[in-house]
Amino acid sequence: MAKFLRAVLMLVSSAQLSLSATVVAQQARALSTESKPGFCRGLECPEFTTVHSAEGYDERQYSESKWVSTEIMSMDYESATSQGFERLFNYITTIDQQKQKVAMTAPVATRVIPGQGPACESNFTVSFFIPAQHSANPPIPSDSDVFFSTIPAHRAYVKSFGGFASQNDWIQAGTELGQALEAASKSYDSSYFYTAGYDSPFTIFNRHNEVWFTAN
Ligand SMILES: *[C@@H]1O[C@H](CO)[C@@H](O)[C@H](O)[C@H]1NC(C)=O
Repeated sequence: MAKFLRAVLMLVSSAQLSLSATVVAQQARALSTESKPGFCRGLECPEFTTVHSAEGYDERQYSESKWVSTEIMSMDYESATSQGFERLFNYITTIDQQKQKVAMTAPVATRVIPGQGPACESNFTVSFFIPAQHSANPPIPSDSDVFFSTIPAHRAYVKSFGGFASQNDWIQAGTELGQALEAASKSYDSSYFYTAGYDSPFTIFNRHNEVWFTAN
């Protein structure tokens, strides 16, 4: 009887222990995501502070961030980004197989350097964010087209919009952002821009997309 009771008590207390461990883990998660904007969906994403909110765009100060990247020359945004995504996703899943757990992050950021003419390919660099806790020593990619990159601390002008973004939606958002910045006499580097997508293709509602220009 005493033996049985002890066993029950042990069961109960270990259940309590694992419950409180779960609570602590949840609290830690809540803390670590507390300062993240809602559109990061609880995933790790690059750190920024909003310096100024204007009609049609935000001005953000970004900290330095590390990324795993791949470059694609193409005429077409969709094929370039899906090819880039596949390479980077392979990198992430290979690491997972080596039991070095790497969680998905946000956003998928693509730097676009537009081609010089209508029949010229654009230069796309597709990147996944590497959170600070992994950035010191990330596993080396086996694909020679996949490399690490750093975006230095910088100020960005950001326009956000919803829905499933097509190439035309990105171009329209970038054009509107450029017009808003010119109207406000803000100086930015017009030789390239970034697209940032925060959602999986299977998210239907409340999707979040951004175009970024780097301030001069
Ligand atoms: C794409 O742009 C980057 C940054 O300017 C450059 O280093 C790279 O060589 C370009 N790629 C091609 C194929 O032109």
